[in-house]
Amino acid sequence: MSRPVRFILNELPMDSCLPPGTVVLDFLRRDRRLTGTKEGCREGDCGACAVLLGALSGGGDGAVSYRAVNSCLLPLGDVEGKHLVSIEGLNPPRHVGDAPEQVSLTPVQQKLVDHGAIQCGFCTPGFVISLTGYLLGRYPWSYREAVEAVAGNICRCTGYASIKRAIADLVDQLGAAVQSRLGGSPDDRERSHLQALVDLGVVPQYFLAIPDRLRSLDVPPGGQDQGAGRTVVAGGTDLFVQRPQQLVEEPLSFLSGAARLRQVRVQEERLYLGAGITMEEVRRIPELEERLPGLVEALPLVASLPIRNRATLGGNIVNASPIGDLTVMLLALGATLGLNRDGSIREVPLERFFKGYKQLDLKAGERLEWIAVPLEEGSFSFEKVSRRRHLDIASVNSAAWIRVQGGHIEAVRLAAGGVAPVPLFLARSSACLAGRGLTDELLEQALDLAQEEISPISDVRGSERYKRLLLRQLLLAHFQKLVSQQMHGEVWV
Ligand SMILES: Cc1cc2nc3c(=O)[nH]c(=O)nc-3n(C[C@H](O)[C@H](O)[C@H](O)COP(=O)(O)OP(=O)(O)OC[C@H]3O[C@@H](n4cnc5c(N)ncnc54)[C@H](O)[C@@H]3O)c2cc1C
Ligand code: FES
Ligand code: FES
Repeated sequence: MSRPVRFILNELPMDSCLPPGTVVLDFLRRDRRLTGTKEGCREGDCGACAVLLGALSGGGDGAVSYRAVNSCLLPLGDVEGKHLVSIEGLNPPRHVGDAPEQVSLTPVQQKLVDHGAIQCGFCTPGFVISLTGYLLGRYPWSYREAVEAVAGNICRCTGYASIKRAIADLVDQLGAAVQSRLGGSPDDRERSHLQALVDLGVVPQYFLAIPDRLRSLDVPPGGQDQGAGRTVVAGGTDLFVQRPQQLVEEPLSFLSGAARLRQVRVQEERLYLGAGITMEEVRRIPELEERLPGLVEALPLVASLPIRNRATLGGNIVNASPIGDLTVMLLALGATLGLNRDGSIREVPLERFFKGYKQLDLKAGERLEWIAVPLEEGSFSFEKVSRRRHLDIASVNSAAWIRVQGGHIEAVRLAAGGVAPVPLFLARSSACLAGRGLTDELLEQALDLAQEEISPISDVRGSERYKRLLLRQLLLAHFQKLVSQQMHGEVWV
């Protein structure tokens, strides 16, 4: 029997006795009758169900960091100790004297209205939440990033031109207004950013008291229901698509409260990434930004911001999809996994972790603790072909890590997804190139070997022949991007 899940919903303290596997979308709409949060796809694809999730940042500054997430994939158990904000929480009614209740629009809502960016309005709460989440995040803002923040929101009727005009106007006007209010020392910046957003009506006044209120919630550390024999939930973005009904009944173990799984450390020329680090957090790791800019730049191609705010590295690997983007990247980086059972760690090279379709070298009771990436000199490239730029699983993806000196390939690792039952390290193609002078003939030889290593099947994402052709082109694209100045000849046509 689980204890009640304790958190703050909009302005109200909450103890919910619903099963921790209940998704927040159902809690809001069915239990609380807060129907502003819309139910669209229930698979993380449309963004109509977006909510804000605020958690104490743990950085000692006492601040709460807010992220837009999809409530259809967010289990209630993961909200424990946090601030959950539905669309209603952005417009609490105000009472002025004896006058009837008044609800005023936030600047985000007003800009959407001003630019005619709403028709049926079904998608609008999701857009408002995603944009508010963006404004609550890092400052200064940019139009490009604000548009990227709504890449997970689909509108079926307005058309995106008016939404984009509203966003441009919002970022422009509000940016200037916030800038004029900031001032003060850098230490106060976080707090004054929130104060400025409150002053401008982006979020209501009660947001200012949330950090203290969260700290005084009586919630045991470590999150809900840690323990052996339970289904492990990391970000839930695979699990709650695959079997949402069963998860309401099952005993669950939530990893999001385990601080050690979010650690990043450098030790003995390895970068250790906690398995609970989210895809969006990966984008902000200084060692990766500095050494592997190609990886950081590729991450906006993965899913959408609300999914990346929840989806973890560990979940991407253990889910074992043959097309997992992060898994393919990590294969090319030569990652090693640290598997934890009762505190003792077993190391397994990622390329040996996958035994067959969804079959893993993961023993009963073992959990993925960290992923270690060697910190070597080299360049990285990731390529993905999908039917849509955002929010789509690839037909074929591929990653390459290469170190070339004067036309000589010192080291190379190639990986591919969507071309075999498992995410594939292209061992033979990589070995054929390593330690050799780079010529067109050698590259052709490696491309031919790659075709022998893969075994794609025809399915909804493309025919076998198409996938073979795609992989050849994606491998060529890596070489063109990373070493093209040292290559000549017909292999590029
Ligand atoms: C709309 C949408 C778009 C998506 N787009 C992409 C995309 O573009 N590219 C892509 O690669 N993926 C995509 N995904 C898939 C998904 O987001 C990723 O695979 C994600 O990394 C899964 O991580 P998670 O933390 O959510 O895993 P969860 O769903 O929590 O878990 C997945 C599996 O891993 C297990 N698990 C998780 N962590 C551990 C651990 N530390 N130890 C042991 N077992 C563990 C769980 O028990 C479960 O079996 C998308 C998903 C959705 C819904
Ligand atoms: S209902 Fe579509 S993303 Fe949640
Ligand atoms: S306004 Fe109708 S779906 Fe966007």
